[in-house]
Order: sequence, then C-alpha cells, then structure tokens
Amino acid sequence: MAAIKVKTNLVSKNILDYSNEKRDEAKNKVQEILRKQVNFNEWLGWVDYHKTKMAADYSDLQKFKSNLSVFYDCVVVVGIGGSYLGTRCLDEVCHSSAVETLPVVYAGHHLCAQSHLELLETLKDKQPLVVVISKSGTTTEPGVAFRILRSYLDQKYGDLANQRIIAVTDENEGALIGQAREENWKSFVIPSNIGGRYSVFTPVGMVPLSLAGYDLDEFKKGVLDFYQNFDQQFMDEVVRYATIRYAAYQQGKKIEILSVSTPKAAYLAEWWKQLFGESEGKEGKGLFPASVTTTTDLHSMGQYLQQGPRHILETFLTFSQCSGSSLKVPNIKDSKDNLDYLVEHEMEYINKVATQATMEAHSKGEVECIEVSVSDRNPYTTAQLLCFFKVSCALSAYLINVNPFDQPGVEDYKVQMFKMLKKPGY
Ligand code: PA5
Repeated sequence: MAAIKVKTNLVSKNILDYSNEKRDEAKNKVQEILRKQVNFNEWLGWVDYHKTKMAADYSDLQKFKSNLSVFYDCVVVVGIGGSYLGTRCLDEVCHSSAVETLPVVYAGHHLCAQSHLELLETLKDKQPLVVVISKSGTTTEPGVAFRILRSYLDQKYGDLANQRIIAVTDENEGALIGQAREENWKSFVIPSNIGGRYSVFTPVGMVPLSLAGYDLDEFKKGVLDFYQNFDQQFMDEVVRYATIRYAAYQQGKKIEILSVSTPKAAYLAEWWKQLFGESEGKEGKGLFPASVTTTTDLHSMGQYLQQGPRHILETFLTFSQCSGSSLKVPNIKDSKDNLDYLVEHEMEYINKVATQATMEAHSKGEVECIEVSVSDRNPYTTAQLLCFFKVSCALSAYLINVNPFDQPGVEDYKVQMFKMLKKPGY
C-alpha cells in the first residue's frame, strides 16, 4: 500500500489529457534521474546517498552523540535555505509529546538585530550546543549569526566554548572546514554532490535532529523504503504529480499553492517552496510556489483563492492519520455558541471535513485542485514525503528544461549587498 497518493480534482480536462500524454516521457526521465543518466548528474548524490554514505554518516553521528561529555539542554541551528529549512520542517512535523526531544532554536536565516538579541536572551539560562551548517561556508547570514553566538559562547564558557560547537560543511571547500580544524570543532561532511535543498537526510538535517533526541532510524527507514519500493509504490505518484504540474503550467497556470491543514506543516511548506522555487524558477520559467495553512488562511487568502484570477494550481497536502486525533469538542451545558452539532466529533475529523469542503468549494470556483495524500503524519512517512517531493521536483525541472540544482539568481542580491556594504573585492 503506497503511503503517498496523488488524487485529482481538475476542472480542465485539457490538463489531465496533456499530463497523460507526457506520462511515458516523464517515466523514462525519472528512471534516468535515479540512474544518474541525465545532464547535471554531478548533483545527483541525493538519489543514492542511502546506499553510499548514509549508514557510515549515521553511525559516526551516533558514536559522537554517545561519547559527548558536555551537558546541553537545547540545540541552536545556524543556517539558511537548504542548510536550515529541512531541519525545521522535520522538527515541526515530527515533534510529538510522545517522544522527549530538546528544544531546537534557529539562527542564521535572517539579518534582524532584534531577533538576534531575543535569541541571546532565550539562551541566557540555557546550556546550548551550536550546530553551524553551511555547505559553502561563506554565506553571510549564518556567518554573522555564528559570530554573535561564538562571542556569547566565549563569554559564557571561555576555553570550553569549542566543545559546544559542531560544524556541518563541505569536506574541502569554504572557510568553515578550515576553521573547524583549527579550533578543534567536531565536523560532519555535506557530500559535495548534494545541493542544499536536496540535503535534508545528510548530516545537514540529521546532526541537529539527532542531537535534539529524534530517532534517526525512522527517517532512515523511510528513505530506504522509498527508494527500494520506488517502482512499485512511488513511480506512478511522482509521475502523476510532476506531469500535472507540467500540464497546468503549459495551460497557463502561474502559481502552485501548497495548502496544508495544520500549523505543524507550515515549515514543510517553506521547505517545499524553496525546493521548487530555486529548482524551477529560472530562465523566465516555472510555477511560482506559494502556500497557505488552513483553516487559518481561509480567513485571509481564501477570498483570493475562491474568486481571484484563475491562474492557480492548488495542491492539498493531507495526512490520513495524525497524532492527537482523539481530542473531541467538549459538551458544555447551556452553551449559547450554537456549536452543539460538533459535540463528540474529533477535532481531526472536523479539520478533514474543512479540507474536503475547501477543495470542493475551490474546485467549484474553477481552481485546479489536486491532493497529495499521505497515510500518516510521522517521521517514517514524512521522510518518504520529502523524498517524493525531491524526485518530483527534479523531474519537473527536467520537463521544463532547466537545471534543477543551481540557483544563479540568488547571487544577484548578494553582489548588490556586498557592493553597498563595501565588501573588499566588490
Ligand atoms: O539550496 C541551496 O543550495 C541554497 O538554498 C543553500 O542551501 C543556501 O543558500 C545556504 O547555503 P550554504 O549552505 O552554502 O550556507
């Protein structure tokens, strides 16, 4: 039984027909991607990381964790983009009161002074480990935050500060690896053939999550099973999703909105936006990836979705089973709120009805709707979902003939900023 199913609720028959016409080509392309027989294959390390390095990396990490002698009560992740969003996504989706994990706090993904000051305030009574993650080792935002955190650690721990710093970076490139060696920080390697947004299951995501107390075995099993059962369970779903996106784009849709129905998936949507935005949005091409969290945003963006321009593909991400589903609307005697009809319904059921009702309403309003339905919301299925999106995204980018793995446009703001800040050499 596939953990992920793509279901359609499309208004235009053209999109379905066009996507069906593209199926065989897409199927061949996925096989080529997974066999690394495509252009840009020097960036395809993530398709076989589970066979090449995963076991060794995870056991190195486990060993480091068991031998760690410093006491810590929170983990600070310093990173941006692909060096940040995957961790935050998994931390948010998989966090559950059933498993004891330490708080993970995030820095390095912005340049806001006030937020940095608030972070330092939060850390006043904490004993943190700081995990600095940067593949290039030269990114400004995490670099600045890391300086601020190093100064905080130096003041608090003096000579012992270095024991609290862990670096995750490229083995050879950039300033961070040299610094880690010099200062004797424990370091973990980001494989050079895996780009940031495809790196969540490498040490990029797994170092902070493991240190926070997440059980990596579930993520690992999810990834292994995804690739092992790809042909039987996931190929059709990946091809369906990517070809519908392709067909919607060719039929004039401009935006894909990922609609998630829980605040616990808000960072999953952020991770998804980076994945598709950086992979496809180039050479004047690509659907603009946006997201809404329902039912919250139905009271803001819902109006636009229902009656604004019809240039949207809306992808509803749903989970069939979720933890906490036993919570019910309580009975309150003589309540005047007219909600007695909900009494004894599980909240999860009401939320599901709200999602289905939204899909029906938007579809009647001529929004092209599809559903990516996941069997459960847990670390195993979430790992499979992220793998599903990564393969679908690479396929989508190949279908519109752009390089899924570079992000040349991201450099432009940096160059401009460096000039304005008078960075030497700019
Ligand atoms: O997907 C990507 O490659 C980017 O989003 C990077 O992850 C991001 O720019 C951070 O780069 P680095 O890890 O080099 O600091």
